[in-house]
Amino acid sequence: MMQNNKTKTQPIGIFDSGIGGVTVLKELIKQLPNENYIYYSDSKNNPYGEKTDEQIIQITDNITKYLIDQNCKAIIIACNTASAKASKNLREKYTQIPIIAIEPACKVVHDLKQQEPTLIMATKGTIESERFHLLTNKYANNQTYILQCTGLAELIENEDQNEKIQSYLQKELQPYKGKIKNVILGCTHYPLIKQQITNILGKVQYFDGSKGLSKHAKSLIIPNTNQTQQNQIQFIDSTNNKNKEKRFFQLLY
Ligand code: DGL
Repeated sequence: MMQNNKTKTQPIGIFDSGIGGVTVLKELIKQLPNENYIYYSDSKNNPYGEKTDEQIIQITDNITKYLIDQNCKAIIIACNTASAKASKNLREKYTQIPIIAIEPACKVVHDLKQQEPTLIMATKGTIESERFHLLTNKYANNQTYILQCTGLAELIENEDQNEKIQSYLQKELQPYKGKIKNVILGCTHYPLIKQQITNILGKVQYFDGSKGLSKHAKSLIIPNTNQTQQNQIQFIDSTNNKNKEKRFFQLLY
C-alpha cells in the first residue's frame, strides 16, 4: 500500500549556507537518533555572512517553505548568520511547526568561565546583528574579544583550501596567540577547522551552539517512536553539487 505524506514518518528539516551545518546535525542525531532528516545545503547563496538582512530573510523564507512542503515537522537553522537575521521573521510567519535556531555559545562560557579571556569568531552578518549585540551585552566580560572572520566560511566551504585557511588564521589569530583560554565558534563552519585554530592559538577550549540547540530541539520536537527504523538522511544542495554531498557524508560519519 502506498503511504501518503501524512502517514509517513515526518522528517526534521535542517539548513545552512552549505555543508557547515553538518556540525549541528552531528549533535542533533545524538539527541534525536530515531529521526529522518532532510539537510538543505544552500551553496547557491554561499556565503550568507555578507548578505543584507533582506536577502537572508528572503533566502531562508524560500528554504523554510520548501522544507515545510516536504512535510517536515520542525526546522533547524544550522547557521548562526541566518538565525541572527531571520529566525524572528520565520517564527512569526510559520507558526505551525517549531523553528529552532542556533546562536553563539556566549551564555555557556559566561556561566562556566566568567573571568577567562575568550575569543568569539563569527561572520560579519552575525556580529552586526541585533541578536549578537544583545548576547554580548549580557554575557561578555572585559576580556571578551570579537573577531569578524570575513571570507573564512567560504574557504571552509570550498574543497582543498587548507593552505589558504592556514594563512588566513595565521594572520587573523596572531594577535591572540597565548592570550586566549576559550574560543566561541560562532559560525557552524568553524568547528571543522578546530585543529588549525589550535595550531596557532595553542591549547584552548572550544564552545559552539550545537549542543544547546540539540537539547532544546529534543525538548520541542515530538520524537519518532519507531525504534526499529534506521534514520535516513537526505542531502539536497541548491546547486546540485554531487561533490558536496560526498564531503557532507564523509564529515557526518
Ligand atoms: N555557517 C554559517 C554560520 O553559521 C554561515 C556562513 C556563511 O555562509 O557566511 O554563520
